[in-house]
Amino acid sequence: MTSGQDEALAGILTAAPVVPVLTIEDRATAVPLARALVAGGLTALEVTLRTAAGLECIRAIKGEVEGCNVGAGTVLDARQVDDAVGAGATFLVSPGASPKLLAAVRGCPVPFLPGVATAGEAMALAEEGFAILKFFPAEPAGGIAYLKALGAPLPGIRFCPTGGVGAKNAAEYLALANVICVGGSWVAPGDALASGNWTRITALSREAAQIGRPQNGVRSGKSGLPNVAGR
Ligand code: 3PG
Repeated sequence: MTSGQDEALAGILTAAPVVPVLTIEDRATAVPLARALVAGGLTALEVTLRTAAGLECIRAIKGEVEGCNVGAGTVLDARQVDDAVGAGATFLVSPGASPKLLAAVRGCPVPFLPGVATAGEAMALAEEGFAILKFFPAEPAGGIAYLKALGAPLPGIRFCPTGGVGAKNAAEYLALANVICVGGSWVAPGDALASGNWTRITALSREAAQIGRPQNGVRSGKSGLPNVAGR
């Protein structure tokens, strides 16, 4: 990834405090779901490739929903990198990073948010030039206390925690200086999705978009781009 892509990723992830993580079974729900989330103020959407419909959902959102960035989540291999970029994803997310996946994203035209759960994994990716990382699975891996503890030894890295993040703890994560945004599925609950309750999803999105970050100030003018050299 180039430093220009870091800038682009920081821009995408600081547009709102929460990135909805969407696992969509029915392609027909993708566009109304995305519109409902964007209407509430959440504009960076991660659509996972965990379902057969994932790529088509990305393509549909990219083509039909204005005012959002649609990323591909759960990108695990080179084929999914190509497929996601081909479908129009404007960023890629993975739960972890393997040497083959890192080789595949090198030269990729869109930014990549790789996942880590330990200090060693974060250090290895920082050496590769990645300054913004997903912390996954956030709650099982140690949660707020763990992520806070990484801040002192790894001050150049910003994290997007996901996995067990929700309305009850998002503000506490966002208050950490090393958190650029949080991700989670709670803004698009399965029952609301199944029943097409877009009003409820917009309300959840609106609440999430208001979650404040009083301490790190990322959204109040700073780029959110940490200082990691060597890209
Ligand atoms: C992810 O893929 O980032 C997580 O599975 C989302 O986790 P959540 O469902 O606990 O929000």
